[in-house]
Amino acid sequence: MADTILLTGGAGYIGSHTYVELVAAGYDVVILDNFSNSRPEVIDRLEVISGAPVTVYTGDVLDPAVLERVFVERNIAAVIHFAALKAVGESAEKPIEYIQTNVSGLVNLLAAMKKHGVHRLVFSSSATVYGEPETLPIPEDAPRSYTNTYGFTKLVCEQTLEQVAASDPRWAFGTLRYFNPAGAHDTGLIGEDPNDIPNNLMPYIAKVATGELERLSVFGNDYETPDGTGVRDYIHVVDLARGHVQSVRALIESGESHTVNLGTGKGYSVLEMLKSYESACGHELAYSIAPRRAGDVAASFADPSKAHAILGFQAERDLDDMCRTSWNWVSRLKNT
Ligand code: NAD
Ligand code: WQD
Repeated sequence: MADTILLTGGAGYIGSHTYVELVAAGYDVVILDNFSNSRPEVIDRLEVISGAPVTVYTGDVLDPAVLERVFVERNIAAVIHFAALKAVGESAEKPIEYIQTNVSGLVNLLAAMKKHGVHRLVFSSSATVYGEPETLPIPEDAPRSYTNTYGFTKLVCEQTLEQVAASDPRWAFGTLRYFNPAGAHDTGLIGEDPNDIPNNLMPYIAKVATGELERLSVFGNDYETPDGTGVRDYIHVVDLARGHVQSVRALIESGESHTVNLGTGKGYSVLEMLKSYESACGHELAYSIAPRRAGDVAASFADPSKAHAILGFQAERDLDDMCRTSWNWVSRLKNT
């Protein structure tokens, strides 16, 4: 019988793509989401893509009663925990909400898992735990720190998992440090759909391309990078999703924890991203140079070799694929 995987935040950007890859790999999947940052229509789209009904619990990871119901009603083999608040700027204004959702949410989930004898969890961490990186590409044993409340919550969650793992050898955690997820599903049915003005580069460029926003503000062109603009490691969301399948499979099969970067190992500048998106959408995109954004680092890209060695992970999609699938998704979204 297929193992059942619980996805908290499974209706979100990365969770929805992971749902598709897990079903394709033969797993049964259950979603728990409170739809605070996703739309219920995502579920219908997942049914179209996967060709089968989707099992959803609408509820909050902060609510022990809904967690109890999921673990009683479903025979969960492992959990992938996406549910979190993720806007860096907002995290400074709402530290209590961020710490509550991200840290208490994880602790609630671990308590429910412990009660029901489920000891495998994949955790959505972030390259943000490297703070201002000292070495490029960034290896997993680089020092950890934080430059904002969101980053603080991810670091505390990682440390919480380390404490729990040390307490009982039955626990096994896959800590996945994502670099910069980008792109959308090939079908154009799911993708990133921020409610407000996007904070992140790719969704912002996408809205300039559709005409919803007038121009991109490039945050600084005086960094020590080849063209002076910030360099990041953009990874296609479908590659990222497949990394979760590999991670959860490794946890179930080996019972060993792992902490790995999920990136491509390549960095692209803001201006390179803009040019690549122009090729995808077929028209020029307006931009102007603005001051640096507080807390930004000049460059960040992964050493992806550990994920390859431990999980067999390798990103297969390139920047053109990210821009093409993003454009396909946002242009459909605008016309529906
Ligand atoms: P997202 O906001 O699209 O998805 C998160 C999902 O969790 C949403 O569907 C939301 O409704 C749900 N959710 C939020 N709070 C909840 C709660 N209390 N109970 C139940 N559901 C809740 O975000 P995403 O980009 O898919 O990110 C997924 C995870 O990956 C997050 O933990 C995020 O911090 C992490 N991450 C994201 C990025 C990125 O750039 N997108 C980078 C690194 C790490
Ligand atoms: C990328 C580059 C900006 C917007 C953040 C979080 C990180 C992770 C991913 C969750 C930078 C530049 C951006 C714009 C710009 N999230 N930029 N104009 O900052 O690497 O990471 O999202 O875990 O924790 O910190 O990503 O997409 O915001 O920025 O010039 O309107 O684009 O300065 O160089 P970042 P980003």
